[in-house]
Amino acid sequence: MLEVDDIHTYYGDSYVLQGVSLVVPAGRVVALLGRNGMGKTTLIRSIVGFVRPRRGRIAFANRDITRLPSHEIAQLGLGLVPQGRRIFPSLTVLENLTVAARGVAGSDGRRWTLERVFGLFPRLRERLGHRGSMLSGGEQQMLAIARALTTDPRLLLMDEPSEGLAPLLVRELAASIKRLRAEGLSLLLVEQNLPMALDAADMVYVLSKGRVVYRGTPEALAADQPVTQRYLGV
Ligand SMILES: Nc1ncnc2c1ncn2[C@@H]1O[C@H](COP(=O)(O)OP(=O)(O)OP(=O)(O)O)[C@@H](O)[C@H]1O
Ligand SMILES: [Mg+2]
Repeated sequence: MLEVDDIHTYYGDSYVLQGVSLVVPAGRVVALLGRNGMGKTTLIRSIVGFVRPRRGRIAFANRDITRLPSHEIAQLGLGLVPQGRRIFPSLTVLENLTVAARGVAGSDGRRWTLERVFGLFPRLRERLGHRGSMLSGGEQQMLAIARALTTDPRLLLMDEPSEGLAPLLVRELAASIKRLRAEGLSLLLVEQNLPMALDAADMVYVLSKGRVVYRGTPEALAADQPVTQRYLGV
């Protein structure tokens, strides 16, 4: 579904991604782990076209998207749940969900109708008229995911969705991610929460200083103490 092939991304003279390759197969959850400042968000930004890799290639559903503008990349079915949630605090839950939605909710052949989104996150239906700022952290994260779903993505990129959430909510989030996978979505999950990533992912990558330093199954990473200690500090 997504193929990142040897990308090199800079901010000015700062050489951040130093040849990153990664694959997200269709219908799979791939987790990308790494400490603060290692380039995880830069990779996400490179994929969605917010920043251009100087070298390398990115393909989505067998199409080269490396030089496409970000709105076209989104239209191809790549959804983003940005780090820090970025919901609209002064808009209601319903308004947050309809500003981004493609066309009118429930019309045309959309896969992710509001009804279906509420099936996944029933709590959002109960909060429909509440402003974003009135929601708990967990509810805001649900809303951020729900908003991305209303654009009908085939692949969802999530940047540290568990950040700032209590352990119980992190487990709920992992359950939601598994349900999305069961619905056929492909996911690239950026995380610093190792147990959460190991629980939700089919395949795990570890990024350090702009390079992939580990790639393997969650089971293999869990058993690899030197790697988890050195690169994740656990
Ligand atoms: N807009 C920018 N301009 C210049 N440097 C940047 C910019 N954004 C990030 N950086 C730098 O690039 C490096 C990678 O940052 P990035 O945000 O990709 O890390 P991250 O792995 O997502 O970290 P975190 O877990 O804290 O979100 C860091 O050294 C950061 O300071
Ligand atoms: Mg980040």
